[in-house]
Amino acid sequence: MEDMLGYIRKYPEMILDAIEATKRAALPSYEFDRLLVCGMGGSAVGGDLATDVMRAYGIPLQIEISRRYALPPHVDRNTLVIFSSYSGETEETLSQFAEARRKGLQMICMTSGGRLKKWAEDLGVPFVEMPAGFKPRAALPYSLFTVIEYLREAGKLDISRDIDETVQVLTELRDDPQKDNEIMSLAGLMANSRISVYAADAYEAAARRMKNQINENSKLPANWDVFPEMNHNEIVGYEDNDLNKESYVLLLRDADEHPAVRTRIEATKEIIQGKVKGVAELWAVGKSKLAKEMSLVFLGDVLSYYLATHGKKNPDKTANIDALKAVLKEKLNTQEKIEKELV
Ligand code: F6R
Repeated sequence: MEDMLGYIRKYPEMILDAIEATKRAALPSYEFDRLLVCGMGGSAVGGDLATDVMRAYGIPLQIEISRRYALPPHVDRNTLVIFSSYSGETEETLSQFAEARRKGLQMICMTSGGRLKKWAEDLGVPFVEMPAGFKPRAALPYSLFTVIEYLREAGKLDISRDIDETVQVLTELRDDPQKDNEIMSLAGLMANSRISVYAADAYEAAARRMKNQINENSKLPANWDVFPEMNHNEIVGYEDNDLNKESYVLLLRDADEHPAVRTRIEATKEIIQGKVKGVAELWAVGKSKLAKEMSLVFLGDVLSYYLATHGKKNPDKTANIDALKAVLKEKLNTQEKIEKELV
């Protein structure tokens, strides 16, 4: 089995494999004008990235992510509901699955196993099977590119050339030892800090993903926000304050960022520099929006891995998540209760 860095370095292959797996699944051609992705943690971020992609390509399909126990009240028969759970055992996602089933909604699942796969098989809900053996967060390319491929099949989005570019950009980044050294050195500077990730709003999903990876892989406290919104509140938290001496600010940049956003980012840097432990930047690589966003995801994932090694943490383990899931199982056993009602 690969370690976390090994999986991150396999993203180009995973993208191609996700597309093939989706084709193999021969999903039905549903009629829909709204997409809802139900998932938590690493399995939800693919939906966030799909949202950024749809916006960047100007696709007028409403897409929403539901990280809750209940479906939003406005889902209807014109909504396609995608259930994304790598383990297939996440109770929030399973609760929404049961509700969608009761309501007779159009459903698709993405999973590697667990109850979600079993229920999909037993109840005839179409699903895309992800390969087993990953940490859920390492399977990100599957949850994003399954959605992108399905939207292509549904005639709603065709970005095949940009997918090719993305695979090429990620392969080049992976094979660039200088880039790797650069990220490793940055991790050395940022080690043992509280990390705030800020991106232009076009890269909202990359910022959230980076924060999650820093939490889960590096075991560090982190938060995220976007420009311009952070200029209206979060920036004030950087007035002189000893708490910020332990903070490192990471800015996600794009050579083509909106000129107003660029001015805001530069001005924000001026204002907060000297009040925090440090400010660093990661620049998107590539031409297309898809390649650029995935390059930031890749670089952030690699950074989170090196932050873990600098902090002598095991990037694979998420002990607190495991402990919490064990308590919930013992106290609530939600999965089993839903199953009894469902079957
Ligand atoms: C663990 C991870 C978590 C999980 C989340 C939901 O690697 O990334 O954020 O993704 O606990 O579990 P799944 O993805 O199995 O539905």
